[in-house]
Amino acid sequence: MSEERGARNSQAGSPGSAEAVGVRAATAQSAFIRACRREPVPHTPVWFMRQAGRALPEYRKLREGVPMLTSCTIPEMVAEITLQPVRRYGVDAAIYFSDIVVPLKAIGIDLDIKPGVGPVIEKPFRTEADLERLRVPTPDDLSFITEAVRILTAELGPTPLIGFGGAPFTLASYLIEGGPSRSYEQTKAMMYGAPQLFAALLDRLADITAAFLSVQLSAGASAVQLFDSWAGALAPVDYRTHVMPASAKVLAAVAHFGAPRLHFGVGTGELLALMGEAGADVVGVDWRVPLDEAARRIGPGKAVQGNLDPAVVFAPWEAVDAATRRVLRDADGLEGHVFNLGHGVGPQTDPDVLARIVELVHEVSAR
Ligand code: CP3
Repeated sequence: MSEERGARNSQAGSPGSAEAVGVRAATAQSAFIRACRREPVPHTPVWFMRQAGRALPEYRKLREGVPMLTSCTIPEMVAEITLQPVRRYGVDAAIYFSDIVVPLKAIGIDLDIKPGVGPVIEKPFRTEADLERLRVPTPDDLSFITEAVRILTAELGPTPLIGFGGAPFTLASYLIEGGPSRSYEQTKAMMYGAPQLFAALLDRLADITAAFLSVQLSAGASAVQLFDSWAGALAPVDYRTHVMPASAKVLAAVAHFGAPRLHFGVGTGELLALMGEAGADVVGVDWRVPLDEAARRIGPGKAVQGNLDPAVVFAPWEAVDAATRRVLRDADGLEGHVFNLGHGVGPQTDPDVLARIVELVHEVSAR
């Protein structure tokens, strides 16, 4: 085990290296990795987007007085927050505690994560000159990640660690708007009005996210998820023309690791096939499209992930039970299914309900 970790650690800091390093051996036979690869599983694996942080009182206690982006750079704190939901919920995978804007912060972009709001950027990106501020982070810029992932893989044993990054469009929307947006007016104004600048920005963000993911994979993450949370704002033709090439570049840049690549967005019912085509092994589906229909849209050769409505947890248990079973029924017979919510865990979610969902999924899907 320690020998294997040592070998992997020697890979750290070589994003873009041509060597295939594969999935950390101890996790290769886990239900999560097997489902991503569309292999038979003993039960449907389950994890929750935003399971780290958010709803857990032990998380709030640990984070007291520590700003979000500071906490992301303290390896011991990152490891502890990543492990808390694994202990509490019995999920089949851990997700690395960080944020999609961490690599931007690491290269010196002036930004903050405001509680209850999200990422806010001091000087929004609008012109060619702004590109100069966006350099690709080196492994040294992200050494706290390598350190945290090393702690985590030692602690997690056979439980896979999922690394993640923001897709170029979703990151660009924060950079251009300066913060969260409902309508993405500035972002789309650049996409339609200055398509070459928009393409250059997304291409640079693709390199940045590829570096962020590569550091996580080099250090021992067993899979990665690309979050294009806000891609659902786009018509398919615009996604294909202006966004998909950059997302495909990210997914291709990490293909040599041999780790499953998951690709998720909200409101992406019309984009599911394209998000698969961009190079994903697993396509994440929100709660609006039933999984059998989603799989039909995506086509063969890909697993699906999802898609319990994250608001269902606020209903009485009978309703949660019925909705959970329905997701499993919709996925019955599909090539590969990873159970998840259709979007992230809300901050008001009762952790006990999530623990019961994990138990129910394992029980109902046991084969
Ligand atoms: O999934 C996990 O548990 C791992 C950690 C994680 C965070 N952010 C921690 C976080 C992940 C995977 C993300 C991804 C992320 N960040 C996305 C894509 C996923 C999605 O939900 O669509 C996006 C769009 C962001 C940007 C961002 N950061 C938002 C919208 C917010 C929420 C603002 C709020 O408080 O409502 C953040 C802050 C953030 N990122 C928190 C956490 C735990 C809350 C910070 C806090 O507790 O103070």
